[in-house]
Amino acid sequence: NLPAHVSIVEVGPRDGLQNEKQAVAAADKIALVHALQDAGLREIEVTSYVSPKWVPQMADNAEVMAGITRQPGVRYSVLTPNQKGWEAARLGQPDEIVVFGAASEAFSQRNINCSIAESIERFAPVVESALAEGVRVRGAISCAVGCPYEGEIAPERVELVARLMRQIGVQHVGVADTIGVGTPRRVQAALDAALKHYPIDAVSGHFHDTYGMALANVYASLEVGIATFDTSVSGLGGCPYAKGATGNVATEDVVYLLHSLGITTGIDLDRLIDAGQGIRAALGQANGSRVARAMLAK
Ligand code: HMG
Ligand code: MG
Repeated sequence: NLPAHVSIVEVGPRDGLQNEKQAVAAADKIALVHALQDAGLREIEVTSYVSPKWVPQMADNAEVMAGITRQPGVRYSVLTPNQKGWEAARLGQPDEIVVFGAASEAFSQRNINCSIAESIERFAPVVESALAEGVRVRGAISCAVGCPYEGEIAPERVELVARLMRQIGVQHVGVADTIGVGTPRRVQAALDAALKHYPIDAVSGHFHDTYGMALANVYASLEVGIATFDTSVSGLGGCPYAKGATGNVATEDVVYLLHSLGITTGIDLDRLIDAGQGIRAALGQANGSRVARAMLAK
């Protein structure tokens, strides 16, 4: 009994590009967002308000947010790790912010320079302020199945972070397989842990594809009723604090799978492939989506 409709949160402009070594012009990022919304994406993670010393690629956050021609019905989200990030982000009027924590202490330290408990303390006033201004709040739980420093992560650790996020008012949580080590049953266990504190429509899957298991993990998530996924057009990306990890599962590949199952997404696959080709051309890179490559070869 799979969901009839799935919401795709396109994270390519943020998760996909944050690790890109070459400079990417703000105009290319803006063009990507425009191409994505024209393809039917209704949730787009645009950028992040983090330290430009840590993630130089996102230093143009304000310019990118200001440059987007917004389409009604599209939700534009940005990452905000702390009060400073939120103060900067709100000037760009995002529809949604994302606070990002981890189920692993070591990863929390390396990624956001604080413990899990401290991260929740930092998020709490940000969440409160955002909600008071009518801005939606999502949370990301990194290393929900495995950590590059601590190895396997038990579902109980995911449950703990989900509980803490729920307590501070985070409306939706993403169960993130940061380094793509998840396999279907382990991913289901991590999702079940988050589902102890959130309803089914407030939990999403965020799967990096390092081991090529991300699509299988999407299917496994559908089996438990999950109907929201973060994906990255043309498979853009990697993680700056997780060596060797590849990008998120390609949006094209997930859309192709979902449509083949009769699940609606509202996304036009051909136009989505154009969006992926556009940013890959700007980067001078080959398309990382298997579906895009196959359809372009026809
Ligand atoms: P910190 O060093 O603990 O912060 O950084 P601090 O308060 O000690 O400040 C140090 C410096 O950073 C100061 O500047 C602050 O002003 C500045 P200085 O005086 O040295 O010039 N600063 C900021 N600048 C801009 N924006 C801010 C901000 N905050 C402080 N918001 C911080 C804490 C979180 C900012 C830092 O550790 C950081 O930027 N980390 C990068 C985190 C990141 O972007 N990671 C990648 C995204 S998460 C992800 O990809 C995972 C996800 O996809 C899910 C998954 O796959 O797992 C979501
Ligand atoms: Mg990610």
